[in-house]
Amino acid sequence: MDGNGRWASARGLPRAMGHREGVQALKRTIQAAPDFGIQCLTVFGFSTENWSRPAEEVSDLMGLVRTYVASDLARLEKAGVRLRILGRRDGLPSDIAAIIEKAERQTAHNDRFMLQVAFNYGGRADLVDAARRHMQRLLAGETVEPIDEDTLAAGLATAGSPPLDLIVRTSGEQRLSNFLLWEAAYAELVFQDILWPDYGPKALGEAVAAFAQRERRYGGREDAPARVSA
Ligand code: FPP
Repeated sequence: MDGNGRWASARGLPRAMGHREGVQALKRTIQAAPDFGIQCLTVFGFSTENWSRPAEEVSDLMGLVRTYVASDLARLEKAGVRLRILGRRDGLPSDIAAIIEKAERQTAHNDRFMLQVAFNYGGRADLVDAARRHMQRLLAGETVEPIDEDTLAAGLATAGSPPLDLIVRTSGEQRLSNFLLWEAAYAELVFQDILWPDYGPKALGEAVAAFAQRERRYGGREDAPARVSA
């Protein structure tokens, strides 16, 4: 969800207003996603590196999570959305950790659409945590499976989620910035020159159309059928 700060600066507004508009764009995008055949949408809300932003901005972002969940959780639950938060719980304000747990618990029975919010998330941190947990079980004397791609993937925050097909980066930047590093191995990348607060059904449709044009080979030579999800 990149470009909130630039969107606000271009209008002479504080960055907090850009993040607030970013939440509106998120709502539009969630609503539109199932119409494009998307079963699972993952958004980057706060990275393990975002703690280095000024305290006021960090506090604004935490505040937005509080108000978003308070105002939208019941509606999301009713709409069949399952919420899953990816990221480290340690280090989060305790009320945010409690809000996250409640949101996950309250929507766990839903299976129409999955919304994953990466929050206090970093792709590297997630890989480190998965390897560390494996090692700790070993050191505790448990019988652990040998590390291979399946056992490592099973320890990640996204374990059990649908495979990642498409990564969209907004705002014209062209990098992954520590997002879903493992999961991105064979994802298609689409870079859109639009600031996140302006995002919505039209831009999402353009990203999906670009994805549909891609030929996915997964390192092989045969054409593979495209799966649509983000
Ligand atoms: C990147 O734009 C955006 C973020 C770091 C935060 C995104 C968060 C929200 C939209 C709201 C809170 C989240 C939830 C889940 C309710 P930037 O600030 O880096 O913008 P810039 O690159 O233009 O400075």
